[in-house]
Amino acid sequence: MALVAVGVSGGISAYKAVEVVRLLQKAGHEVAVVMTRAATRFVGPLTFEAITRRRVVTSQWTPGANADIEHIALASDAALFLVVPATANTIARLAHGLAGDFLTSLALATRAPVLLAPAMNTHMYDHPATQANLATLRSRGVHLVEPGEGYLACGWVGKGRLAEPDVIAAAALRLLAPSRALAGRRVLVTAGPTFEDLDPVRYLGNRSSGRMGMAVAAEAAARGADVTLVLGPTAVEPPGGMRVVRVRSAREMHAAVTEARDHADAIVMAAAVADYAPAGGPAGGKVKKQEGPLTVTLERTVDILADLGGWRAGRPHPVLVGFAAETSDVLAYAARKRESKQVDLIVANDVSQAGAGFEVDTNVASFVTASGTQSFPLEAKSVLAARIVDFIAARLAPAASDRMVPA
Ligand code: CTP
Repeated sequence: MALVAVGVSGGISAYKAVEVVRLLQKAGHEVAVVMTRAATRFVGPLTFEAITRRRVVTSQWTPGANADIEHIALASDAALFLVVPATANTIARLAHGLAGDFLTSLALATRAPVLLAPAMNTHMYDHPATQANLATLRSRGVHLVEPGEGYLACGWVGKGRLAEPDVIAAAALRLLAPSRALAGRRVLVTAGPTFEDLDPVRYLGNRSSGRMGMAVAAEAAARGADVTLVLGPTAVEPPGGMRVVRVRSAREMHAAVTEARDHADAIVMAAAVADYAPAGGPAGGKVKKQEGPLTVTLERTVDILADLGGWRAGRPHPVLVGFAAETSDVLAYAARKRESKQVDLIVANDVSQAGAGFEVDTNVASFVTASGTQSFPLEAKSVLAARIVDFIAARLAPAASDRMVPA
């Protein structure tokens, strides 16, 4: 049982928040409601007070709101902050970090996951300002329950209708109780760059931070998997709760992956592995400068992912996931890569886009599988990581026929 903070903002669908609160309570959770002033014009705070048996804060200036421990503690005690409905105005305030009322202050103060259920007129929803605000929130890891399409209370038809209460409650429950679907499964993830030494003091490297692979590893571990992270040289600290194998070069990474692959149920190659290394290995001593240009001969490294694809050929196990960083024709190149490397999923990034690729916490990605492609908006690497782990969990889930127990 967890404490859920439910923020209600002022839209005609505010009454549906009552049903969402009841569904969360039915699932065994405690709910504390905060309302914007506008919300109180649509539903009375008494309704929420009666069903939650807790005082409902409607203003930062309500006597007690800043003194009473229960409300101060809400930011730290809540396991989830759900805003239902989230109006265009509230979404804008959240995107810009405004803190003019209790609901928005709570959003800044809490470290709990935030889930928004937007609801508004369809043109307000489609407006570039609202879409930009939603993109900003998404890129910070805020979760969204997409509004539905249909006949809106304002008489218009289109997207903007609050998702159904059971859909919102289900999304909240998923965030409250992360699935343990990967318990007993072994997941091998590579992350970070590789450094190919030229001599004892110089190397060829790349700008990968390892954040994407670390996010996948953390998500798999959170779902119960036994995770091994093969990590190239990066200054970013890896998450806890997993075995970390530090490597430096493509050759070392290949050896570490080859050693672990037999036991893996899924392998995610998120590392930015060098395609070339100095031929014959690094020079034994420091290379001295000389007059004129210096020519360094490079040789191809082993393509670890392609090697895994060839090794697995003809079998569905382990699940193989690779990445493709492209600057043009993203989906076409990614599809070719998926086929040539014989893997299940290529996560393709257009690294020419702002907010995608190395050194940032966000990504803009598409999934390329044998059955087609699916593109996602700019979102936090943690959200993309959850999608990748969803894919793995679905592939590893026993088929319905395997689950059937003979009579
Ligand atoms: N990869 C690998 N071993 C290598 C090189 C890449 O396992 N020696 C993996 C990466 O971890 C990633 C995927 O292959 O999952 C990237 O494919 P790759 O063809 O190397 O991508 P690019 O380097 O972007 O390829 P290209 O330069 O040909 O576009």
